[in-house]
Amino acid sequence: MKKCYDFDQYVDRKHSHAEKWNNMVSAGAKENDYSILSMSIADMEFRCADEILNALEEPIKNGVIGYDCPSEEFFSSFIKWQKEKNGWDIKKEWIVPVPGVVPGIANTVLTNTEKNDAVIINSPVYPPFFDVINMNSRTLVENVLIEREKDYIIDFDDFEKKIKENNVKVAILCSPHNPVGRVWTKDELERYGKICLDNNVLIISDEIHSDLILKGYTHTPIATISEKLLQNTVTLTAPSKTFNIAGLAQSVAIIPNKQIRERFINGLIGHGICHMASFAVVGFIAAYTYGKEWFEQCMKYIESNIDFAIDFIEKEIPKVKVKRPQATFLLWLDLSSIDMEHEQLDQYLINEGKLLLNSGITYGNSADKFFRMNIACNREMLTDALNRLKNAIDKLN
Ligand SMILES: Cc1ncc(COP(=O)(O)O)c(C=O)c1O
Repeated sequence: MKKCYDFDQYVDRKHSHAEKWNNMVSAGAKENDYSILSMSIADMEFRCADEILNALEEPIKNGVIGYDCPSEEFFSSFIKWQKEKNGWDIKKEWIVPVPGVVPGIANTVLTNTEKNDAVIINSPVYPPFFDVINMNSRTLVENVLIEREKDYIIDFDDFEKKIKENNVKVAILCSPHNPVGRVWTKDELERYGKICLDNNVLIISDEIHSDLILKGYTHTPIATISEKLLQNTVTLTAPSKTFNIAGLAQSVAIIPNKQIRERFINGLIGHGICHMASFAVVGFIAAYTYGKEWFEQCMKYIESNIDFAIDFIEKEIPKVKVKRPQATFLLWLDLSSIDMEHEQLDQYLINEGKLLLNSGITYGNSADKFFRMNIACNREMLTDALNRLKNAIDKLN
């Protein structure tokens, strides 16, 4: 019989070290204001699968938390998962463990570009993409997504033009896209890939959200489209979002191209970030080996939360516009109908509405007046958050 996981259960993270609940002051909240509800940072409020938690107890039971290395199971569990999910046959030697997707992106940028070289992104996009480029003295080139009634698309003419004009060396693709929730189609990825290949642009494909695909959509890893793209792509992914284990900081880079892979490994060694934490290794293996049932039930819960939230917003808060995402547990809310400066509105929601969302402006200037809401929590918390948003907006009338 299948085990039934309880996603209605409340887990108190307010009194833990969780960034989502303890980093509110930097967003503008008053110190120790526990009345603010956080729907920000992209981890889930759900308890992890017992199968993973039990495995994490093993190093403690053993009594020695020493240096770990990626065992055979580390590779085989990941290869099997990718084969099942994406039909991708990944060779073991392509896989390089890395302590986080963002460190993997930074390492790829650093080992494939020189100072001032241009790197292109499709904004609005996950804020660390900006930091990785700016903080490493590379030149940021933004290709802004085009908004349509039901979704967003890439402005390919602008993408190609900016690549040529700026002599772009690397493109960072977010696939699926955070925050707009697009699952790029094979056609779109082919076009994106062709432009990059034609212009000698290396692709970094951040596929950390690629398991969180909602019904009706299919994820295609861009590297699987052709042999040329396989050789021209560094794919980064992790069990972090899928199984709610981001705190383990264990990700992988998939790098079929030998030269790029060697540069990547040397970059990790050069920065001294090639060790793996014991908990990260056992958690990673347990997640990909035993986490499937938890994950499938979790996705059903998330899907119903998305339906519930969109229905609520459309009926109760018509001033807020939202499109149904195709992936992720994130809603991208358009509050442009509210006549208030972004900063002021952000502070109003936090300190008057008692609701913390991710401020859109951090995803790029084009996202002024947008806010990101994480709906991976129990229904009671989600209902509370939606009511807070409604009350805050109603009060402005
Ligand atoms: C698109 C994207 N990439 C990377 C990350 C974080 O990856 P990591 O914690 O492995 O560095 C996130 C987390 O929200 C994300 O949304």
